[in-house]
This record gives sequence, structure tokens and C-alpha cells, in this order.
Amino acid sequence: MLELKHALSELEKVVDVAQLENFFQIYLWKKGLLNEEFKVMVDLPAEEKKEKWAKLSEIKTKLTQAYEAKEQYFKMGYINEQLEKDLIDISLDASKDIWAYSLLAEIRRDAEEICKSMGFIVEYGTEIVTKFENFESVNIPLTHPATEMHDTIYLNDKDASGENLILRTHTSSMQNYLIQKYWLPLKAVVPGRTYRFENMDASHDTMFYQMEWIVIDKNISIAHFKEMITKLLSALLHKNVETRMRPGYFPFVEPGFEIDVRYEIYNKETEKKELSNWMEILGAGMIHANVLKEAGVDSTQWSGFAFGIGISRLAAVRYWIKDIRYFTNGDLRFAKSFA
Ligand code: PHE
Repeated sequence: MLELKHALSELEKVVDVAQLENFFQIYLWKKGLLNEEFKVMVDLPAEEKKEKWAKLSEIKTKLTQAYEAKEQYFKMGYINEQLEKDLIDISLDASKDIWAYSLLAEIRRDAEEICKSMGFIVEYGTEIVTKFENFESVNIPLTHPATEMHDTIYLNDKDASGENLILRTHTSSMQNYLIQKYWLPLKAVVPGRTYRFENMDASHDTMFYQMEWIVIDKNISIAHFKEMITKLLSALLHKNVETRMRPGYFPFVEPGFEIDVRYEIYNKETEKKELSNWMEILGAGMIHANVLKEAGVDSTQWSGFAFGIGISRLAAVRYWIKDIRYFTNGDLRFAKSFA
């Protein structure tokens, strides 16, 4: 009878896919050694047959398992090799229709179009930033407890002053960069990814999308901001919204606000229209004099406002999504339901 030990040692010697295929042909193929032995057994007396059959079955199981493990090993090696070569994940089955719109991209594009029509520059900036850009340029001293709230991912690479580079924790880190790049008057938006140390839940994720608005000109006041934010949110949410301003603290604005929205919804039970609850949707404020000073701007001449919206949160409101993690967890059932 075929010896398991011998077959396994033969398998051991296999070093590439071609040899593995050869091994399969010899041992496991339907006309291979194993099946030949099963065939021969058909004519044996019942007792003997039973015993040998069981033994041979066991050999077949073990050999097949060992073969499959090796096959898997080669496959992974091949995939990893390809991945290293061109960074494209070839393990995805391209024959299937797997694309779907990303709701986050859709709302970002919408926002960009609306902003362009309002005369804003759209700029993506960089996700890797200096600590100066992320903290000090927006009036957060490195010793400030707010840097802890914004704990993030530190890179090994360093900036010119020897500080480690980090992944930006908010798009406000682009304020100084935008002022330097375009100077004044300035109307610009930055959509993009931001990273934070967060306990993940339905409305918090460690990577999330933000969009920052910055307006600096002569005689800019809170009234300009209030008018703009209401129009903008109505356009973005496809509803007429009401906005409410509450005092809020952010080191880079003075005064600072939290903005809530509410809008009319249809209550299916009472069959009447009613107002939704107030929802906190963004942080905002008049740009702090220290931020302007740090960028070399004379704050007696210029003033402005800035605000930052979580795009994921906005999309959640617009599309009635309960958990923002759906946007990025790659679940095709979710993505396809909006295709
Ligand atoms: N950067 C703030 C945040 O991430 C939002 C904000 C932007 C607040 C601009 C005020 C002004 O929470």
C-alpha cells in the first residue's frame, strides 16, 4: 500500500508550483496512485476491504490536507510577491461588478462644487504635517492639554526643526499653509482625511473626513459667518435648515462657537411635519489674533472666520446613516445599497 510517510517526504521536496502540480498528478489526481489503490480494493474480500479502505481514506485525507497547505503557502507567496511588485491587490475577483459610489466622495464633491460657486479655492493640502502646522500655528502650544485630545500618529521622519512629523488631527492645520500660499483676501476650503486617537463608536472613528473653511478679508464679522453657514448647510443637506450658535472653545478662534442644525422632518406616526432635534454639526469661530500674527497678518487690518465640518457626520445626516463606520468598513452590502 502507498506509504503516507514516503508521500509526505516527496511533498516536502516540492519547491515550486510546477512541482506541486506534478505531485498532485502522481498522487491525488483521479488517475493518480491513491485512486488506483482504491480501485484495486474493490475486488478484495469484505473484511479486508473494510480495513484497508479505512486506512487508505485516512492517508488520502492527510495527504490532501498537506497538499492544500502547501498550495496555500505558494499562493500567498505569489500574491505577496505581486503585491510587493505593483501594490495592486490581485486577489480581488475582477470578473464581478464590485464598484459602488462612496457617499463620502459624493458629499465632498458636492461641497466642493458649492464652494467653488461661492468663490472659494479648493485645496487638499497634506495629510502629513509638522507639529507647528497642526498645533502651534493655530495657537495650541505643544504643552497645551488640547494636544492630548488630538493625540495622533507620529512618524519617524522629522521636519527641519527636528520635530517628528505627524498625521494631521484636523484640517485647521492647513490654515497657516493656505494663508502663506494664497495670501489675502482669502476664501478657501480644505476637504480631506484627518486622524485622531479616538475610542471608536457610531460617531467617532480614528480616521475621518473633515472640511475646513477659512475666510479672511477686511471687516469680516460674525454676521457674514452666520449667513454663510445657514446657506451652505441647506445646500449640503438638501433641506432648509435652521442653525443655532452656542459658545464653544477652540484655541484658534475667539469667540468660538459650536453650530447645531435642525430641519423639518415628516413624522410617519402622527403624519405631521415636525422639527428634528438640534444636532451638533461643526466647530467654528472668528480667527484668533495669534493665528493671524503667526502667519504674519496684521490683525488690526484683517479679520476672518473659520469652521470645520466632519464630512462623515454630514453624510450621516444627509443619508440617514446611524453609524459612520459604515462609510469606511468596506461592506459591499452597504455601498451597493446606494449604487
Ligand atoms: N478644528 C476643529 C476640530 O477639529 C474644528 C474647528 C475648525 C473649530 C475651525 C473652529 C474653527 O474640532
